Amino acid sequence: MRSVVVFYLCFLLCVGLGLACIICVCVWNSHWRGGFAWDGTAQQFNWHPVLMVTGLVVVYGIAAVLYRIPLTWGQNKLPWKLLHAALMFITLVLSIVGLCAVFDFHNANNISNLYSLHSWIGIAATALFALQWVVGVAGFLLPCSPVSLRKLLKPVHVWMGGSILSLSIVACISGINEKLFFVLKGTINGTQPYSKLPLEALLGNSLGVLIVAFGLVVLRILSNQNWQRQDSRPEDSAYTPLPQEEND
Ligand code: HEM
Repeated sequence: MRSVVVFYLCFLLCVGLGLACIICVCVWNSHWRGGFAWDGTAQQFNWHPVLMVTGLVVVYGIAAVLYRIPLTWGQNKLPWKLLHAALMFITLVLSIVGLCAVFDFHNANNISNLYSLHSWIGIAATALFALQWVVGVAGFLLPCSPVSLRKLLKPVHVWMGGSILSLSIVACISGINEKLFFVLKGTINGTQPYSKLPLEALLGNSLGVLIVAFGLVVLRILSNQNWQRQDSRPEDSAYTPLPQEEND
């Protein structure tokens, strides 16, 4: 009972931190960076952090801990599987549009692509996520996938899930840092330098801290064995032609 209460407190913290990340990245880009457009200008770039943080961090993190909610344990697993896959699909769409925003912005302004450490980590995180989504749908949702394959895939899927979240967080931290160095140049463009910690830098740094805190709470939930779904109910296998469904 105590473990369930602690879970819900962690889950609440996770949702609260996720919302705070989204609000923070939206306020930064709308209030401090001039808002949003899709015309090749810096306003188009602003979609990039908003969509990446919302998609590959917050929606992804919430989708990852979905199976751990004790309320779902006694229920048929299929609807939760579909919700998990749907949230991951939303993440996929948001991150693809988020990447299009920055590639398009770079191309429109003759800036080279994929030159920074941030972009390397970021593209790796997105590519691994896309691969994980395709393999996850094929391996766990298609009724024709054999149980032996599901058993083989599950530990890899869980490990990859945590690794992709960690990579996304590293990408966000490096991206925020890079952006703050780009825009807070001091007298050159009429802003205060980053080293003076103006309000915008305070907001950007706080966003980074919130993202790290969100990630740590998600990884904590994922690593607790007591919060793993207990697939003991025979009804769980009723919706699938594979009787050992509860093992995946
Ligand atoms: C999971 C999150 C993120 C991923 C996967 C990601 C990925 C990428 C990729 C692949 C590029 C290269 C685009 C190109 O070369 O044309 C890029 C560029 C950029 N991103 Fe991100 N990004 C993420 C989050 C962020 C955040 C939160 C910020 C904060 C403002 C940010 C700031 C930048 C900046 C300034 C660039 C342009 C400079 C560069 O190419 O390094 N990114 N991002």
